[in-house]
Amino acid sequence: MKQIVVSGIRSTGRLHLGNYLGALRNFVQMQREYNCFFFIADLHSLTTHPTAADLHGSVRAVMAEYLAAGLDPKQCTLYVQSDVPETTELYLLLNMNAYLGELQRCTSFKDKIRKQPNNINAGLLTYPTLMAADILIHRANLVPVGKDQEQHLEMTRTFGLRFNRMYGTELFPEPQAYNPQSPLVKIPGLDGTGKMGKSEGNALYLSDSPEDIRKKVMRAVSDNTPKAPNEPKSEPVQNLFALLRAVSSSDTVEFFEDQYQACTIRYGDMKKQLAEDIIALTTPLREKIEMYLADDRLLSDVAAMGAEAARKSAKETLRLAKEAMGIRKL
Ligand code: ADP
Ligand code: TRP
Repeated sequence: MKQIVVSGIRSTGRLHLGNYLGALRNFVQMQREYNCFFFIADLHSLTTHPTAADLHGSVRAVMAEYLAAGLDPKQCTLYVQSDVPETTELYLLLNMNAYLGELQRCTSFKDKIRKQPNNINAGLLTYPTLMAADILIHRANLVPVGKDQEQHLEMTRTFGLRFNRMYGTELFPEPQAYNPQSPLVKIPGLDGTGKMGKSEGNALYLSDSPEDIRKKVMRAVSDNTPKAPNEPKSEPVQNLFALLRAVSSSDTVEFFEDQYQACTIRYGDMKKQLAEDIIALTTPLREKIEMYLADDRLLSDVAAMGAEAARKSAKETLRLAKEAMGIRKL
């Protein structure tokens, strides 16, 4: 039996290079080897993006981006979270044994209530139980996620093991974080510090036009040319090199490394090359995204097919979970 893989991305806007290189590209690689379920976490996005007007467009965009990146609905199950009501039912059941203290201690909860003090909703508090439901509903073994999701995965294991213990079952396996790339890639933003993120305003989107990419990259923060050989790189310069390593050939990286060491580097030239290499990577993706976005029929067929397959797997888990909990028909 193939191992079961589950992962999702929230529909909070278009996907950026960090999402692609840190997550999506791994999904594509895993679909051949494992029994994969990849979904669009539209319900999760309501915890921070409650505006109805944006939701549908974002879900469509992520689906088009999944397909453009190479996820193949014949090889994996691609679905929208809200199309699988069994997930939300399991979420409710798991919430009965998820404690206020552990949910409040979760780092992502603490971060988010700091960021949105006027919208500390119950969905934000129970974000980890919904994520646990996403994973446990297919009894997943592996979950490809970045480092920022490790605590959520730890909580998923806690909830699953607690369920097994409380109800005397072995229903839920212990899912592990998985990353086919080591070390984990962290794509930096263009503003000199931190990671590329949707909400950081420093992102290069897969759907950006070549002109947008050139503009954004040329504006990226850099630094003065080093004055002495082997001078340590400042953070903005390290970030430019990290992007270069992620998208350019090793010859290109070596060329600019040598120039840096020789104190002859011109960041303008490096950024020009970086922009062209990003464009070479994203152009085929952008063209496919546009093609899929223009094909409503295909998007809805893929979602319908995915929902059917995901519900089949989910129904069986939910049935067993309810049976274990003593929920039976009269
Ligand atoms: P964002 O931070 O832009 O809101 P999400 O938190 O929705 O993105 O992340 C979706 C997926 O993309 C996750 O698996 C996450 O680990 C990955 N990811 C996001 N940003 C980056 C980045 N800068 N570098 C590498 N991976 C990233
Ligand atoms: N919390 C994840 C993120 O912000 C998205 C997500 C929701 C997820 N449910 C999941 C990831 C289940 C993996 C498995 O990136």
